Amino acid sequence: MPDSSISKFFEKNHKERIELIKNFANLSSEDIDILENSPGGITFENADKMVENAIGTFSLPLGIATNFKINGKDYLVPMVIEEPSVIAAASKGAKIARIHGGFTAEANESFSIGQIQVLDVKTSDAIEKIKASTTEILKIANDQSNTLSKMGKGAKEVSCKELQTDIGPMLIVELLIDVSDAMGANVTNSMCEAVSPLIEKITGGKVLLRILSNYSTRRMVKTSAVFDKNEIGGEEIVDKIIAAYQFADHDVYRAVTHNKGVMNGIIAVANATGQDSRAIEAAANAYAARSGHYGSLTHWSKDQDGNLIGTLEIPLSVGIVGGIINVHPLAKICTKILGVSSAQELACIIAATGLAQNFSAIRALSTEGIQKGHMKLHARNLASAAGAKPEQIDDIVKKMIEANSISLNKAKELLSQI
Ligand code: MEV
Repeated sequence: MPDSSISKFFEKNHKERIELIKNFANLSSEDIDILENSPGGITFENADKMVENAIGTFSLPLGIATNFKINGKDYLVPMVIEEPSVIAAASKGAKIARIHGGFTAEANESFSIGQIQVLDVKTSDAIEKIKASTTEILKIANDQSNTLSKMGKGAKEVSCKELQTDIGPMLIVELLIDVSDAMGANVTNSMCEAVSPLIEKITGGKVLLRILSNYSTRRMVKTSAVFDKNEIGGEEIVDKIIAAYQFADHDVYRAVTHNKGVMNGIIAVANATGQDSRAIEAAANAYAARSGHYGSLTHWSKDQDGNLIGTLEIPLSVGIVGGIINVHPLAKICTKILGVSSAQELACIIAATGLAQNFSAIRALSTEGIQKGHMKLHARNLASAAGAKPEQIDDIVKKMIEANSISLNKAKELLSQI
């Protein structure tokens, strides 16, 4: 069984890191070539097919978070993010969670929700007619995807709700679609468009919008972990972390920042695996406000031994087939590094990374603050930018911190003195 608790991964050079990943994930020589030699992973020609008016590509750092154990399986987690400290923080959080067995996580099957807005109808009559035509509606929807139909997946339910709006009542028809391992936006939209003429015919109304809902509450994921009190620094720190969480859960200004920390983990893995990060963000934020009050996405408490318990539950719509994975070689390789076999497994990893990230952020904030760690990493980057060799970096970083002067000029000055 591969072990993700690779010690001092950050001290290895590029080749050594890639070698470790290659062995962990059985990467091919072609994968390695892409990782080593193709910054950004896509060519201009790929980009030009993906978006309009392309003029180039734009790359971000791709790193690996170590130490993740989720439902008993070890993972090296690829993260695409521009912010220093995040990958180190995720790895550290996962390392502490490992002591009590790592993360447990569970994801729903992948049901997407498609919405069809119907105007100019008497809602109660229309709902009766739609109910009576459910089989026909589902058949038209499922004719849009042979792949899903053959797998026994696809559109499963039709439901209706009435909305009271400023311009009068309207009917919303919703399709519940099992999209299997895809994110499923395209198939959901196609099904909504396909059934709309029938819905107009049976209701006598006028269909306006036909679109997927990104509020993917039928694709929930929940993860939790126990963080050892001694490893955290004692029960006193556990209590401080709980107080930090309470602050977030009762103040929207803090909650947004707290949840941003969760998103540092979630979006970095989503980016690495080619997910629609905007959809994920929008759904998570709506969920954070589901009670009418925007609060913390995570929940922190302690067990009877005084250890910290964290949980995170969010709607999370992700896929491992279709979409960008088909065109972006790095998204494909990152998914291979994770070794996931279903969208649910990927959702569990993404959620666990969000929880690990939030743990490390609020632990740092409740103790020494985040600037120390940030500045250390920043100092490393500056030392390297000043031209320091790997073996000189630690020395220059130490001297910059001692001199309380962390800048490119200082790094250059110290390097010239070596
Ligand atoms: C920084 O990217 C994220 C944090 O601000 C999150 C938090 O405040 O909990 C450190």
